[in-house]
Amino acid sequence: MNEYRLPNAKQARFRNKTYQAPIIYDAVKLTDSQKKLGVNLNYHVITYGCQANVRDGEVISGILEQMGYTFSDALSKADIIILNTCAIRENAEKRVLGVIGSLQSYKRKKPEMVVGICGCMPQQEQMAQNIVAKYPIVELMFGTHNISSLPTLLENVLTTRKRNIEVFSALGSIYEDLPSVRQFRHKAFVNIMDGCDKFCSYCIVPYTRGQQRSRRWEDILKEVKRLKEEGYQEITLLGQNVNAYGKDLDQGCTFADLLEKVSDTGIRRIRFTTSHPWDFDDRMIDIIAQRDNIMPFIHLPLQSGNDEILKLMNRRYTSKQYKELFDRIKEKIKDVAISTDIIVGFPNETEEQFSDTLKMVEYCQYDNAYSFVFSAREGTPAARIEDSVSLEEKKRRLQRLNERLGYYSKLNNKKWEGQVVEVLVDGFSKTNPEIMSGYTPQQKLVNFSYDNAQIGAIIYVKITQGMKNSLNGVQVHPGKENHEQY
Ligand code: 5AD
Ligand code: SF4
Repeated sequence: MNEYRLPNAKQARFRNKTYQAPIIYDAVKLTDSQKKLGVNLNYHVITYGCQANVRDGEVISGILEQMGYTFSDALSKADIIILNTCAIRENAEKRVLGVIGSLQSYKRKKPEMVVGICGCMPQQEQMAQNIVAKYPIVELMFGTHNISSLPTLLENVLTTRKRNIEVFSALGSIYEDLPSVRQFRHKAFVNIMDGCDKFCSYCIVPYTRGQQRSRRWEDILKEVKRLKEEGYQEITLLGQNVNAYGKDLDQGCTFADLLEKVSDTGIRRIRFTTSHPWDFDDRMIDIIAQRDNIMPFIHLPLQSGNDEILKLMNRRYTSKQYKELFDRIKEKIKDVAISTDIIVGFPNETEEQFSDTLKMVEYCQYDNAYSFVFSAREGTPAARIEDSVSLEEKKRRLQRLNERLGYYSKLNNKKWEGQVVEVLVDGFSKTNPEIMSGYTPQQKLVNFSYDNAQIGAIIYVKITQGMKNSLNGVQVHPGKENHEQY
């Protein structure tokens, strides 16, 4: 018989304020048969969406490799393809459904191939039912709460050739010590928490990722120290809302405290994302300002510059409060870069309300921004509002917004021309082997010509040109050569 366990929308909404998420150490313990299942077979994982999904994708790869599978770049060679999905906007979902459709030709040629789907899409009750009903090629489905069930589910699929669908809506647990294959050897994502309790009215994440669960600071620190020992130069602390770190635990460690502890490990570069402007306290700002290894870059989602819309969005700050926070950050953290997220076309947004967002952009002059047209997500409060604004009008607003955002990102990038910056080298340009690329402390992408740069090293680059989305430069060696070059 097929094994189905589908999510439940009502449960996904439920929160228990006194809940302490169980910590599960060593959640993936493979049986002898599971360890051999993938020997001589290939896997491919396609990850969509945010960094939390990227990190989950690394864990999925880690589990598959423990099962004996080998990574293959080519879909045609894969014996299992897993789509690790995102549900934040309809476009993201449509893309995945299109890919499932296109995998049918591979499956026809290789019927024993397993197609699996996981991540945020199957966490939604309707979507999970839809996939089960319309996409028989999907034999394996699991959710964000049970990645560690992958070996058992996959073994069942392979041995019985029955669909194994297991997605549950739970308050959630914390998993430690999961295997993983990290994307890079010099920079790493470190989850500090999962889930979100903010319930912004447009957002599906609190329903797909469950109640906020923070990892114990000791476990986070252990991971960071290990990464440092392994030679990692940069870590990014991940959470849907890092400022709220620790509020669900009795350990007396806030995000500011955590930043301090992580900074004390001496790892070269620390980043974090995402910050919610609400409860971004001054102590956090001070610690970022004081510590050289905490990078001067803050992603501070605005969403809207209009107070009525912010209220409808349930963002819990006003445009004035946002500006005050923005000013404090700019004032205290030297050379800080700030990026943002903005949604246009929230239901019934008027031209006037939209112009408040434009005014805010003129005020903040962001270094970088991600802008989106509102997408109704089933089950969220905003999706129930009847909307009078046409999609065409929303797209026009997005274009107008992007023009201003682009103007300021270029302006900010131009300011770096002539300066020497530190760059953590990521790799070679895809089109030109004489060019390498990497990021500055302010998270600016730099393409540069080099003489002896290595992937994973932190080197100096003199910026020659600032463009809208990146900087160009040339490697320099301050201190070693004469000052003219500097
Ligand atoms: N429609 C459009 N954009 C959204 N975001 C989240 N939910 C929606 C939605 N329903 C955007 C927000 C968030 C970013 C990750 O995605 O700007 O900060
Ligand atoms: Fe979504 Fe708001 Fe939580 Fe961010 S803080 S994940 S936008 S609900």
